[in-house]
Amino acid sequence: MIKRVFLPIIVIIAIGFLTYKGLETRWPKLFSPGELSAAHAKLGLSGDCQACHTKGKQVDNGKCLGCHKEIKEKRDLGSGLHSLASDECLVCHSEHHGLESNIAYFDHHNFDHSRAGWELEGIHDRLKCVVCHKKDSYLMDKRNCIDCHQDIHEGENGDDCAECHSQDTFEME
Ligand code: HEC
Ligand code: HEC
Ligand code: HEC
Ligand code: HEC
Ligand code: HEC
Ligand code: HEC
Repeated sequence: MIKRVFLPIIVIIAIGFLTYKGLETRWPKLFSPGELSAAHAKLGLSGDCQACHTKGKQVDNGKCLGCHKEIKEKRDLGSGLHSLASDECLVCHSEHHGLESNIAYFDHHNFDHSRAGWELEGIHDRLKCVVCHKKDSYLMDKRNCIDCHQDIHEGENGDDCAECHSQDTFEME
């Protein structure tokens, strides 16, 4: 007798609880497709799924850019890979593949440098990447000849070295 009364009540309570609005945010780990990368692990541990996700959207690029001001800046400046790339961060930065995963993977040896809006030509094409790029990041704040080369003309010829010089040698015939 007692069983017959309690079972339906328990079932009703259980259904109510499981479908309660906001369950997703209260029990995020249940719904996560996998552990986040090391860089974002803290967000997973604190259950802050909304840091990257918005209801109705898979991933909210605006939220990524909210934290990654350095990328937003490059896009606003119109320089570098991220100003030319697709708007969808997840196309190149997948997540939920665990602590060991590399979410910023790209093929360093076969990278087509013009994708960054800067053609590697002449001598530049034969240099090691680290001669120009820092070890821990490929983001760049230099792009004009004069940002990297000393102007021996002391301003007399203007800033646009490429007007007269190639990327092979500064010597003139
Ligand atoms: C640092 C940003 C970030 C955080 C924080 C994050 N995710 Fe994600 N999530 C992503 C990205 C990026 C993808 C897309 C992966 C892909 O398509 O390769 C994704 C995909 C998903 C998907 C698959 C969506 C689909 O339609 O295929 C689910 C479900 C999901 N996340 C749930 C969660 C839950 C639950 C949490 C909280 C524990 C969480 N995520 C936290 C970035 C994040
Ligand atoms: C709450 C802030 C926050 C949000 C939201 C966030 N990130 Fe990050 N992200 C970080 C931090 C902190 C790091 C590690 C430090 C760093 O490299 O800046 C990081 C690192 C990264 C890296 C470099 C990882 C590496 O191994 O070098 C990539 C790529 C990245 N995030 C992409 C994304 C994308 C795409 C999203 C949106 C889906 C996103 N992030 C959302 C804070 C955030
Ligand atoms: C002569 C200097 C130089 C060398 C050598 C060089 N780069 Fe670059 N790289 C640049 C400049 C300049 C930019 C574009 C800066 C900008 O406008 O943001 C850039 C941009 C990039 C970007 C895009 C970064 C972003 O997110 O915007 C990547 C990735 C990159 N380079 C990879 C490489 C790799 C891989 C190598 C070695 C094979 C290499 N670079 C060698 C100067 C160099
Ligand atoms: C077409 C592919 C592509 C897309 C789309 C893309 N990225 Fe990247 N991203 C890369 C590559 C390749 C790197 C590694 C080289 C570098 O640092 O530029 C990178 C590096 C990063 C880094 C690490 C930068 C550092 O400190 O070195 C962050 C953060 C990042 N991306 C965020 C984003 C966000 C946010 C979006 C969406 C607005 C996005 N990316 C869209 C290809 C992409
Ligand atoms: C209007 C044309 C012009 C522009 C612009 C110009 N140069 Fe020159 N540059 C020359 C000429 C001509 C010479 C050779 C005669 C001389 O030394 O003045 C030269 C010589 C040089 C040399 C010495 C090469 C050697 O013989 O060893 C360097 C280094 C150099 N330029 C760097 C630069 C840099 C860096 C810039 C940009 C900030 C620049 N130049 C802009 C015309 C120009
Ligand atoms: C991100 C930095 C960077 C930018 C931007 C850059 N270079 Fe270079 N360049 C280098 C480095 C590093 C070397 C090799 C070391 C050296 O010789 O200074 C080099 C070497 C050279 C050389 C041969 C070596 C020499 O000094 O005679 C020439 C010529 C040259 N660059 C021309 C240019 C011209 C023209 C531009 C603009 C279109 C330019 N560079 C933009 C970093 C840069």
